[in-house]
Amino acid sequence: MTDFLQLAEDIAREAGHMLLAKRPTMSEEVETKSSPTDVVTALDKASEELIRERILAARPDDRILGEEGGEEPGESDVRWVVDPIDGTVNFLYGLPDWAVSIAVEVGGQAVAGVVNVPARGEVYTASLGGGAWLGAERLRCNTGVPLSQALVATGFGYSAARRVVQGQVVAEVLPRVRDIRRGGSCAIDICSLAAGRVDAYYERGVNQWDFAAAGLVATESGATLGGLRGKQVSPEFALCAAPGLFGELHDLLVTLDADRQP
Ligand code: IPD
Ligand code: CA
Ligand code: CA
Repeated sequence: MTDFLQLAEDIAREAGHMLLAKRPTMSEEVETKSSPTDVVTALDKASEELIRERILAARPDDRILGEEGGEEPGESDVRWVVDPIDGTVNFLYGLPDWAVSIAVEVGGQAVAGVVNVPARGEVYTASLGGGAWLGAERLRCNTGVPLSQALVATGFGYSAARRVVQGQVVAEVLPRVRDIRRGGSCAIDICSLAAGRVDAYYERGVNQWDFAAAGLVATESGATLGGLRGKQVSPEFALCAAPGLFGELHDLLVTLDADRQP
């Protein structure tokens, strides 16, 4: 596990250096994906290519799921889950909250996770049973926070129809909590929770590559990560908080039917 974590961290740092160095000149090369607001830059692709090359050089038989390149079939029970830039819109605008996210799963279980936030000089790491870390600092999520006092991070997908529902849900959550934060990176939102910078996070429509690494950072910090109505975390719904708050926010989100289709 230490080897997996060290390799993931080395690769995430290298990709982060490359992105910081090239952003000023290359970030304007933009295409759109699922909707006009869903952008991919040339550097999203370059970052994923670098990460894939480095993984395969060290571990040629492992499987890789990456946001930009998808998943190649393979027999190995080791799978790397990669978001080459989480928070691409922030990256494009020169805001600091974008990250390189790399998780390693063995038999479907995340065993190592790294979320590198180059523009802040922050690297979150976790290994299964080894705790969650921000650099050398051990992380513990906030506990004992009631919903009415909770600072809740969330995000919105790229489809306009889904955003209508997300807007209706957040309008009902907002009067019941301390405040809402929309940082623009699912991976950083969840790591922020692990670091006690927010108390809870929820979002509909995030993918494995968004939450795989950060999810391990959060659970290793003492948080619960899941879906609604007893389901596992999935693109259908991601909810994360310390156990008591998880239950309170969960029940509110179920009442609001927060995972409904547009
Ligand atoms: C997005 C970010 C954002 C979340 C979106 C994601 P991307 O990832 O994590 O915070 O709200 O749902 O798609 O496109 O920047 O990799
Ligand atoms: Ca993402
Ligand atoms: Ca991405």
